[in-house]
Order: sequence, then structure tokens, then C-alpha cells
Amino acid sequence: MNHQELYTLAESARNRAYAPYSHFTVGAALLSKAGKVYLGCNIENAAYGAVMCAERTAFFTAICEGERDFAAIAVAGGREGEAGDVCAPCGICRQVMAEFCASDFEIVLGPESDIKVYRLDEILPLSFTKENL
Ligand code: THU
Repeated sequence: MNHQELYTLAESARNRAYAPYSHFTVGAALLSKAGKVYLGCNIENAAYGAVMCAERTAFFTAICEGERDFAAIAVAGGREGEAGDVCAPCGICRQVMAEFCASDFEIVLGPESDIKVYRLDEILPLSFTKENL
């Protein structure tokens, strides 16, 4: 599975987003080291604090299925009805990545015409992890 294919899967997951408040839809495709893909979308709530991001939906689904070894995540997001653009993971999602992934975990971002790949230690430097406890 290459980066482009993973991004395309994130775009497909984006179609399942539930975002009636922000009208900003996000999809994520999380690739395990064994080659399995877990999808996620953002799921909003009338109580805004209960909103769940696409990235964490994918991670928590994977963890719940027993997965622990992750290689990469692609994220596709943008305003409802518009093509996906750069959608950088929020701080909480980066922290969840730091819990379960090594520093070379890859984050694949759009837009589709200009895919860019970042390392986790690049987007979350000086992180607080279990090594600190
Ligand atoms: N959102 C994500 O799902 N992932 C991101 O990386 C950024 C933000 C969602 C949360 C909320 O439903 C909407 O986008 C607007 O913040």
C-alpha cells in the first residue's frame, strides 16, 4: 500500500463523516505494519466537547481490534462538499499517535495532487510520553 492509495482510502472514509455543526468533514486511513487498514471519520455531537476526530476514531477502532503496530496514517479533510485539502492532525490526535507509535510513524497529508509525508517526531517534537513516567 503506497501513500497515494492510503490517502484515497482516507478520502473514502471522509464520506462517512458526521459533521452537522462544523460542516468540516475528515477521513483517516490508519495502516498497520502488517498491512491492514483501519478507517475513521469525524463524529460530532450537539455537546461540542464530545466531538471525536477522524484520526482518533481510526486509532481507537484499531486498538479495540487488537492492533498495536502502526506504520502510517493518511488524513483527508476539508469543508463539506469541497475537495480535501491539507488537514493537519490536532494536538490531541498527535498525542494519541505518540502513545502508540514510534517516532518514524508517517503522517500522510493532502491535497490529493500534492501528497506530503511527515514523521511523527517532526509534527510533535519534544513530546511527553510513557518514557517520561
Ligand atoms: N477534525 C478532525 O477530525 N481531524 C483533524 O485533524 C482536525 C479536525 C474534525 C473535528 C471537528 O469535527 C471538525 O473537524 C472541525 O474541527
